[in-house]
Amino acid sequence: MRIIERAAELSAHLGARRAAGDAVGLVPTMGALHDGHASLVERAATECDTVALSIFVNPRQFVPGEDLDTYPSDLDADLVVAEKAGASVVFAPTVPEMFPDASRTTVHVAGLGDVLEGASRPGHFDGVATVVTKLLVLARPSRAYFGEKDFQQLVVVCRLVADLCLPVEVVACPTVRGFDGVALSSRNRYLSVAEREAAAVLYRALRAGAASVVAGERDPGEVVALVAAVAEAEPLVTLDYATVVHPETLAPPEVLAGELRLLVAARVGTTRLIDNVAIEVPE
Ligand code: PAF
Repeated sequence: MRIIERAAELSAHLGARRAAGDAVGLVPTMGALHDGHASLVERAATECDTVALSIFVNPRQFVPGEDLDTYPSDLDADLVVAEKAGASVVFAPTVPEMFPDASRTTVHVAGLGDVLEGASRPGHFDGVATVVTKLLVLARPSRAYFGEKDFQQLVVVCRLVADLCLPVEVVACPTVRGFDGVALSSRNRYLSVAEREAAAVLYRALRAGAASVVAGERDPGEVVALVAAVAEAEPLVTLDYATVVHPETLAPPEVLAGELRLLVAARVGTTRLIDNVAIEVPE
């Protein structure tokens, strides 16, 4: 497995792989790799000849007061996970390498990046969209892999890829969960034992909401109220939002019909967690 720190070297190396006929897959991450990241790399390795995993704690997607300075980082452990999962290249640039002082350009995905997580974390998705665009331009992969756990991020990335005509297929990969149903996230390591137990309520709440739709509920307000009630019954959880949205526009539907996404965000102790499930309403 080759470890690359310079952007120009990444482009040159992957350019040579493409010229040799390889399909290149890209898995963008911020490190602190867990089984969810490993599942993205494993999927990429079944579909691509060369799999590049990027590890970059992107300062531009942290809003003031967030955990930029304490974000978990362990490159040696990450390299072991990456290699075992099938990565052939790890790109681990420094901040000045990705964002030289002279850089002035931001990618802003209007509307999609300002709601939900974007409302609680203003500027977060500008940071995500900008770094993902740069990584796609540097690596020029045929496919890029993102987890459905960060559903809004996936929607933002799909939109920017379409809007900027980037020649890449965005592959959405299912959320990986722990034994207790908690969606894997690098930030789960901030949770105490009691908080981890409490965090399991989020997936239970989403499942309860989805089950009510299966049982015939068609009023989005009722589904959201049920999700909120289940989540808020857990004293360690402070709900930020529960909502049902259209999976491409993130707009709330008036009635439940077709494919939709049920999302929650909550603080468990001081840790902010998000989760979501698909719901499909028969027409
Ligand atoms: O999902 C993440 O880890 C990050 O938001 C990403 C996509 C690597 C961009 O920094």
